[in-house]
Amino acid sequence: MNEKFDVSRRGLLCGIALVAVGLMPEAALAAVPAVGIKQVGKKLQLDLKKNAALSKVGGVVEISLSDGSTLAVVRTASGAKGLVAMNLACTHQGVPVQQSGNTFICPAHGSQFGLDGKVIQGPARQGLYKYPLTATATTATIG
Ligand code: FES
Repeated sequence: MNEKFDVSRRGLLCGIALVAVGLMPEAALAAVPAVGIKQVGKKLQLDLKKNAALSKVGGVVEISLSDGSTLAVVRTASGAKGLVAMNLACTHQGVPVQQSGNTFICPAHGSQFGLDGKVIQGPARQGLYKYPLTATATTATIG
């Protein structure tokens, strides 16, 4: 009897892992046309001069993706390493979070994330999904 329970529990855990992988938005990185953003292969290139909000720490540029989700690029510090790109789907149950000052708040159950994507308040336990990002003084490449 205990063995059956263990198998079921293992199956449930695998199911949860698959759902989590399904939430990973890596494959959906294609932007709806926007100012200063172009698709280069599977990556997005963001012209930093045309997105002046990213010149100041705390600045955010939101990019609609072709799968309906939203990617946010955030200036967290000065310099080429001071940019973060993340998906705005809450890591609790996938509801889009909304910026409110220096936080992203989930309207579903109240999770809060910092502008760097880290969890401030649950129920979400993981930070917002981050995309790889490299930057020069003029361009951020995401993906
Ligand atoms: S879906 Fe965001 S807190 Fe539940």
